[in-house]
Amino acid sequence: MNPYHESNRTRWDAAAAKWKAMIDRRGAWREAPSRPELAFAEQEMKYFSGIAGNKVAVLGSGDNMAVFAFAGMGARVTSVDISEKQLENARERAEALGLAVEFLQADVTGLSALPDAAFDLVYTGGHVAVWVSNLQQYYSEAVRILRPGGLFLVNEYHPFRRIWKKGLGKLEVEVSYYNRGPFRYDYSNDILEPEAGSYPCYEFHWTVSDLIQAMLCPGCRLIEAAEFGTHVGDWEAAPLEGLPEWLLLVGRKE
Ligand SMILES: C[S@@+](CC[C@H](N)C(=O)[O-])C[C@H]1O[C@@H](n2cnc3c(N)ncnc32)[C@H](O)[C@@H]1O
Repeated sequence: MNPYHESNRTRWDAAAAKWKAMIDRRGAWREAPSRPELAFAEQEMKYFSGIAGNKVAVLGSGDNMAVFAFAGMGARVTSVDISEKQLENARERAEALGLAVEFLQADVTGLSALPDAAFDLVYTGGHVAVWVSNLQQYYSEAVRILRPGGLFLVNEYHPFRRIWKKGLGKLEVEVSYYNRGPFRYDYSNDILEPEAGSYPCYEFHWTVSDLIQAMLCPGCRLIEAAEFGTHVGDWEAAPLEGLPEWLLLVGRKE
């Protein structure tokens, strides 16, 4: 058992109810099956044209927007998350949407419940790597469960955005870009209002080259890298205009 991940799992379980309420307020999950563009950028969508009937795994599935969008496009989807509570909420929503999705509670660094070469596409990202202490193992597992020729898509919150002080109205580095952590925070059960609380959790600030290097694991060929996005969320509390929002990496299993 990885102690960092175990703490993070406990926090995500505790935070799942408030996270669910927030996603319900947004409501977009109801539309994700018919409007996949709510879950994916156009830079990603171009990889999904022949996805109907394909087997897809989403790792660190969280709000499951990606899962519901893939299922709506006709893919057979396995949704993997470390938090049983997050998965319970997603299971309820899949039922409400009439989608057949497989759910698996697992750590992305240990996917032994999934066989080798079982998937046509593995998708992950949108703030998952930040919770994972061993990026190489995470991405190697993703590649192991892909069939030869299958695609591995990572679309992560861009590492350049994690290093700034919040609430200053100008950019000032808080932690060096090269400091990967682990950063321990004692949070409450509210992900969106991370006031101090009793849940220790651990974050990891991977750099752009860390993410690329992890994807270049044996048997995976990088076929695209792209940076895009301009939106700055209220929660970011720093003037990030002009910095990329997302880092997309696409690999093909040899
Ligand atoms: C912010 S969500 C990211 C997913 C999605 N983009 C979203 O916005 O909901 C983070 C998810 O990663 C999961 N997670 C964190 N660490 C994990 C790990 N080691 N293995 C599997 N899932 C993990 C959490 O339980 C949570 O549901």
